[in-house]
Amino acid sequence: MGKSRNKRSRSTRSLASHVVAIANQKGGSGKTTTAVNLAAAFVELGKHVLLIDCDQQANATRWLGCNENESDLLEVFTDKRPLDEIIQTTDSGIDVVPSSTHLAGIDRAMANELGCEMILRKAIAKLPNKWDLILLDCPPALGLMTASALVASQRVLVPVEAKALGLEGLASLMMTIETVADRLNPDIQLDAILPCIVDRRTRLATEVIGALRKRLGRKVLKSEIGVNIRLAEAFSHRLPITSYASSSAGAADYRQAAMELAKRWR
Ligand SMILES: Nc1ncnc2c1ncn2[C@@H]1O[C@H](COP(=O)(O)OP(=O)(O)OP(=O)(O)O)[C@@H](O)[C@H]1O
Ligand SMILES: [Mg+2]
Repeated sequence: MGKSRNKRSRSTRSLASHVVAIANQKGGSGKTTTAVNLAAAFVELGKHVLLIDCDQQANATRWLGCNENESDLLEVFTDKRPLDEIIQTTDSGIDVVPSSTHLAGIDRAMANELGCEMILRKAIAKLPNKWDLILLDCPPALGLMTASALVASQRVLVPVEAKALGLEGLASLMMTIETVADRLNPDIQLDAILPCIVDRRTRLATEVIGALRKRLGRKVLKSEIGVNIRLAEAFSHRLPITSYASSSAGAADYRQAAMELAKRWR
């Protein structure tokens, strides 16, 4: 009986828990704002969410008020510590694997480590079956941390700033995803593009989103995240938008995106 229960929990795990990399090597495209506030919107929907901060800038770590003197993701790579030993619970209800500036030299430090892109995937596979959703906030580069996140994920969510330059680099991100799919993780797919920092007053934003939809069709979400200063303020207050300004347009946009993604990922 014990055995059959074990079997069942393993099979439910692959259905219920989604690992999603939030990636775009273009800096400032809204990755961290999306990781934190989408996670918070999913928590409001009653989901148990783990956010893994894969960026040495540690913005998600700071946004959610983690203790920065504790162990961070680097130790999973260098000391092979299990991920669940370094998870911090936060007031937002989001569980967080923190990052720090110590992660800065990781590409060089791991240069001679064979198969180091697999470390994060293996660490995630050993986590208890506790989270409905695991989000990975990637840095603005296609280095080891983004590669590790792509190898560890089933899906990629790409926040794109709705400006002409926002589309820059999208082609090389798509090529990287294809290479990862081909060589390391056949399960990975570019799942959704989320237009972010959309200035709805300008024609340019509409044109950029139109061009995206023409090129990528259904991959572009119907939801959009408009420019909302409350989102930028929420970071300084170390609160997700759903707590800092629950009735703001920013909170409404991320709730809408969470609902659309929840349907897509069901
Ligand atoms: N919808 C929005 N409205 C207004 N400001 C926003 C919005 N989304 C993000 N910002 C601001 O834009 C800047 C970049 O956002 P964010 O840090 O989320 O991008 P990122 O892709 O994570 O950046 P990086 O590539 O450096 O990790 C931040 O100052 C953030 O406060
Ligand atoms: Mg970021």
